[in-house]
Amino acid sequence: MDPKRHWETVYRTKDVHEVSWFQSEARRSLDLITRVSPDRSAPIIDVGAGASVLVDDLLAAGYLDVSVLDVSEAALEISRGRLGTDAAKVKWMRADVRRAQLDEGAYAVWHDRAVFHFLTDAADRAAYVEQVRGEARRLRSRRHLCRRRSGVLQWAPGGPLLRGRSSLGIRDRLSAGQK
Ligand SMILES: C[S@@+](CC[C@H](N)C(=O)[O-])C[C@H]1O[C@@H](n2cnc3c(N)ncnc32)[C@H](O)[C@@H]1O
Repeated sequence: MDPKRHWETVYRTKDVHEVSWFQSEARRSLDLITRVSPDRSAPIIDVGAGASVLVDDLLAAGYLDVSVLDVSEAALEISRGRLGTDAAKVKWMRADVRRAQLDEGAYAVWHDRAVFHFLTDAADRAAYVEQVRGEARRLRSRRHLCRRRSGVLQWAPGGPLLRGRSSLGIRDRLSAGQK
């Protein structure tokens, strides 16, 4: 499956309020992010953000360096339209997370809600894990987290720690190959 084609179709044909993953506010994610990174100047990336309102909530909470990445241009357009002039405060990246060129050590927080979850092909999951692992290596002592559903992965200087539940094995994949 070509993810760009698939997700462009989803966002151009469905009402974002009707999709199963819709949430009117991203309270749980915001709570997690403010807990691990209270510094409002910390660079945060929401990977596979879709049309999520997390970006709105982060701006409202005072975060100054927010990046939003998604494979679908239509999804980014929805969020930009909703934010209006505030859209200019955000770095928008139309990219495939499996091969996106991410700035070295750019992010203090890596946020993912229901994206890794949708990568069902083993090679796709491996490519995603490599991206996260690369960021973790570059960040070294800086903490960041990866949240999927109720699982939170948080990097400390000693390596990845799991907070909450993870049923899809990203913790094991990262721990097994961590350099
Ligand atoms: C289930 S939606 C979740 C959206 C958002 N995280 C939320 O919580 O509302 C999955 C999102 O992942 C994006 N996505 C899927 N595969 C991707 C990829 N390879 N690279 C970047 N984004 C991707 C889709 O466009 C879609 O917006």
